[in-house]
Amino acid sequence: MLIALTGTPGTGKTSIAKILEKDYTVVYLKAYEDARLYWDDERESYVVDIELLKKEVQKLKGEEKIIIEGHYSHEMPVDMVIVLRCHPQELERRLEKRGYRKEKIKENVEAEAMSLITSEAIIRHGKNKVFEVDTTGRDEMDVAKDVKRIIEERDRKFAPGINYSEEILKWY
Ligand SMILES: Nc1ncnc2c1ncn2[C@@H]1O[C@H](COP(=O)(O)OP(=O)(O)O)[C@@H](O)[C@H]1O
Ligand SMILES: [Mg+2]
Repeated sequence: MLIALTGTPGTGKTSIAKILEKDYTVVYLKAYEDARLYWDDERESYVVDIELLKKEVQKLKGEEKIIIEGHYSHEMPVDMVIVLRCHPQELERRLEKRGYRKEKIKENVEAEAMSLITSEAIIRHGKNKVFEVDTTGRDEMDVAKDVKRIIEERDRKFAPGINYSEEILKWY
């Protein structure tokens, strides 16, 4: 069974995946260097060959529960999607700390406020396979525990629908 661990940059995918390595095999999409097409200067990130990645991920399918980590893991042929979320104000702080420039912070904070990744995941996989976990103001170990519970029990109690759209209204 393949599980996507996705979310806007800064929501905590890598931190949480590292903790989950104790219990699961974790595959980091960033590690597939062959899938890099070119460096996009404007977005300061690689443009990747999604179709090639899909083929690679497809090869991993089987009995074992494998976590696929990356902000386009929800585009992969997975059985379940976990979207990490973060309140836009806290996300802004996390990305500032990471040294992202203003434009890139704005783009990501807006995407998060609009629930872009959740929407993409639901369009691709349907509502029943998509689970959200809020990381705002929380301990990383707690978040990892929630993710594990969702994987093992598919329990929606730990995955509320998250809506930050009110936040957008405050910006104007
Ligand atoms: N509850 C939390 N869950 C995950 N990350 C958190 C949490 N609280 C604070 N953080 C911090 O947010 C940052 C997330 O970075 P990272 O894991 O690299 O995100 P991503 O891989 O999604 O870009 C880290 O500095 C992490 O310590
Ligand atoms: Mg990361």
